[in-house]
Amino acid sequence: MKDLLKLMQKRQSVRLPFDTKHPITKDDLLQILEAGRWAPTAHNMQNFELIVIDDEELLESIEDIKRPVSETFVRENYLQLSFSEEELLKKKSGVLAAMFPPSWRNPDFRLDISDEKADLSMQRPIQGCPVMLVIVYDPARRAPASEGDFLGILSLGCVMENMWLMANSLGISFHIVSSLSSGAVGKEVKNILHIPGNLDIAFSCRLGYPISAPAEYLRVRRDIKDFASHNKFGSKDLE
Ligand SMILES: Cc1cc2nc3c(=O)[nH]c(=O)nc-3n(C[C@H](O)[C@H](O)[C@H](O)COP(=O)(O)O)c2cc1C
Repeated sequence: MKDLLKLMQKRQSVRLPFDTKHPITKDDLLQILEAGRWAPTAHNMQNFELIVIDDEELLESIEDIKRPVSETFVRENYLQLSFSEEELLKKKSGVLAAMFPPSWRNPDFRLDISDEKADLSMQRPIQGCPVMLVIVYDPARRAPASEGDFLGILSLGCVMENMWLMANSLGISFHIVSSLSSGAVGKEVKNILHIPGNLDIAFSCRLGYPISAPAEYLRVRRDIKDFASHNKFGSKDLE
């Protein structure tokens, strides 16, 4: 059990390029899918399908999709930023501003839609990888009486985490790329992969082995007492 906790604590997002010439073995891939297969889902609906992409041309066409950033994204992202490690350690949630382009570190960010170049300079490339997974679901098939299919969507998160932990346990890095899920970008991904129109993309992820060792980066979490109450909300005597 200690090993399980260690695996969870060590699981991390790896945003580096992965070695496109270092494939993921079929056995490893099947273990990752097996982990997704056994994820809990509301009413055991197993409300997902997934596409494994290992064809170089397909991967390239997905990497090449223009993913202009939206003003809403940058403004809401700003709310999660810390501008120093000290600040992040104090906040215990969110991410370091240094992870993002300088123009995103401005609370008054405005997207100049008349300037296509400026728009694209905000786009962060999708780094290469030998395998991507695209997980799709049918938003019309909600979990019983679940408003907005909240329970169905939670279930997709369980699939994500199961696969992520399995991948990491096999020494395979994992990186979620949310910007491929919706809007014009999502449509293009759906076209490239022949995904039926009634399905939505829940999430996509890159799998692989980083070209260089991932740099240590500061990962913070709130303390247990910050989020856990004992018997009544706000009663903080658990630690
Ligand atoms: C639903 C979801 C969506 C995410 N989308 C992205 C994403 O688009 N790009 C990215 O680099 N990381 C993405 N992440 C990773 C989170 O930023 C990351 O898990 C968080 O900052 C904690 O860092 P860690 O994974 O290294 O522990 C996503 C994670 C989740 C659970």
